[in-house]
Amino acid sequence: MGVLGVAGYSSERLKQELDWIEAHVGGKPYGVDLIVPNAYEGKGAASVSVDALVDGLPATHKDFAAGILTRHGIQAGDLDEARKGAGGFARNLADAGASTLDLAFQYPIKLIANALGTPPPLMIEMGKKHGVAVAALVGAKEHALAQAAAGVDIIVAAGTEAGGHCGDVTTMVLVPEVVEALRAAGSDVPVLAAGGIVTGAQMAAAMAMGAAGAWCGSVWLTTPEAETSEVIKRKLLAATSRDTVRSKSRTGKPSRQLRSPWTDAWEAEGSPKPLPMPLQTFISEPPLRLIDKLADSGHAGARELATYWVGQGVGLMNTPLSAGAVVQEFKEDFARAYERLAAAVGA
Ligand SMILES: Cc1cc2nc3c(=O)[nH]c(=O)nc-3n(C[C@H](O)[C@H](O)[C@H](O)COP(=O)(O)O)c2cc1C
Repeated sequence: MGVLGVAGYSSERLKQELDWIEAHVGGKPYGVDLIVPNAYEGKGAASVSVDALVDGLPATHKDFAAGILTRHGIQAGDLDEARKGAGGFARNLADAGASTLDLAFQYPIKLIANALGTPPPLMIEMGKKHGVAVAALVGAKEHALAQAAAGVDIIVAAGTEAGGHCGDVTTMVLVPEVVEALRAAGSDVPVLAAGGIVTGAQMAAAMAMGAAGAWCGSVWLTTPEAETSEVIKRKLLAATSRDTVRSKSRTGKPSRQLRSPWTDAWEAEGSPKPLPMPLQTFISEPPLRLIDKLADSGHAGARELATYWVGQGVGLMNTPLSAGAVVQEFKEDFARAYERLAAAVGA
């Protein structure tokens, strides 16, 4: 089933997307995923003023970002206005996702998920009330135990290979570790494996390790249905599994993305230490949006800088396929893997 990541969406955008899904999904199940971290700058504040957050950003970080652009032939000018318009994520954090949840639950969603922490109590409460499964993404065994104790219905164990926010334990180790820990604690919460999974054989491997299924992000990015631009699609298809980096420079928390001179600059010695979430998103997102726009119009420097969240599985994503063809490949590759395993034990 498809799950829509809505971190940073305004209410209008969320409604538009959910209306579209409802009109096209033909009654099939789908879910919504938000990001309400356990820890972020300004947590507990009664309200958030995006303007005040932007006005308080340190010049060191803004100048550093501008310097990367200048060195690649991009004169960005003052990005503060764009920064003030890019405050969706900070605004959603201000009410711990409550307005997003209210809207999402007006649709017949079958799953609601949260990343970067234990789901806010309201999410678990609304999930129970509406009979909607609540999932939580975790990158460590301790987090899985805390999430199960808080009442989540599904744990997504995402290894460090994953695109987007991720921990530092590999999927190969994290999945059995989480499954074992939950069982030892008497929990029967199902575990979905995530991180680096782009083939059916990997799905079979995840299930052999005790996962109930798989959760995938990166594999969809090179499909024509994806929001990624042609420039990014080409870069992803050409990338190897060693071309990603786990960096705090995009959001303030570690997230895996395609390496480019933009990420290299932030990782280089002497670069400013990324600000806490969500402040770093104000530093990075407006320049990255500009880079995407210029890259699409053929600007050479912007094409070099362009980056996107993606996991190490990118090294296995070498052919552009439609989303439907990806699903079919998953099924066939899973069946082949299953047959290999069955043959290995003479079954
Ligand atoms: C482009 C992109 C955007 C993502 N956005 C979100 C998000 O908004 N919320 C979330 O919980 N996870 C998000 N993730 C992480 C996925 O939920 C998932 O854990 C991850 O993609 C799994 O690893 P994989 O990329 O190797 O398949 C994102 C991943 C990618 C690649």
